[in-house]
Amino acid sequence: MLFITLEGIDGSGKTTISKLLKEKLRSEEYQVVLTREPGGNEISEQIRNIILSKHNLGMDNWTEALLYIAARRQHVVEDILPALKEGVIVICDRFMDSTSAYQGYARGLGIRTLNEVQSIVLGTTKPDLTLFFDIEPTTANERMKVRNEGEMNRFDLENNLFHEKVYKGYQVLISENTDRIKVVDARKTVNEVLEQVYYYVEEIIQKIKDKANG
Ligand code: TYD
Repeated sequence: MLFITLEGIDGSGKTTISKLLKEKLRSEEYQVVLTREPGGNEISEQIRNIILSKHNLGMDNWTEALLYIAARRQHVVEDILPALKEGVIVICDRFMDSTSAYQGYARGLGIRTLNEVQSIVLGTTKPDLTLFFDIEPTTANERMKVRNEGEMNRFDLENNLFHEKVYKGYQVLISENTDRIKVVDARKTVNEVLEQVYYYVEEIIQKIKDKANG
């Protein structure tokens, strides 16, 4: 039972690595599911479409936060917990720290306040390991420019200041959760990033095995 989440600002490359991590773990005979937020199942994907639509520019910050959390609740109950119970490794591209960084810090609702709401809604479901893909917002922005406009969502339209704030929000979370959140240098090549990620994944697998063996 291992729950891994990947976090970072937009353009940090976590989505590419998530797929490679899944393949690598599968090649070592682990059962793995890869999922993402917002989304993961039919109901959560519908909520995702509402949140990210470029037509919803007037969305209130709390409405936005609660929709993310609602989508997450459905995701946890319908997909994540059942998989974990079966002993599958769950890799999730974004989870509760995204809400803390984006809505809690960057939108100003408060990291602590959203922690409270999320702990009520999600109970004890917490990642065992969170990998933060560390890259400067300006570098990430350069990477994002190669995405075409059709793929852009409401957050891609936010200004640089917003993404700087998200990055700062993550720094706060890292400093408050040093045991759980591990930082990887996301400016490196894909292979090098995967190597750093795999180091932490192997470490946590070993820890869980040691614990099981008493
Ligand atoms: P993501 O799926 O990573 O977008 P993309 O596939 O285009 O990389 O996430 C969509 C956006 O939602 C992203 O900008 C981050 C934001 N987000 C939040 O603001 N709060 C959250 O809780 C989550 C999960 C995502």
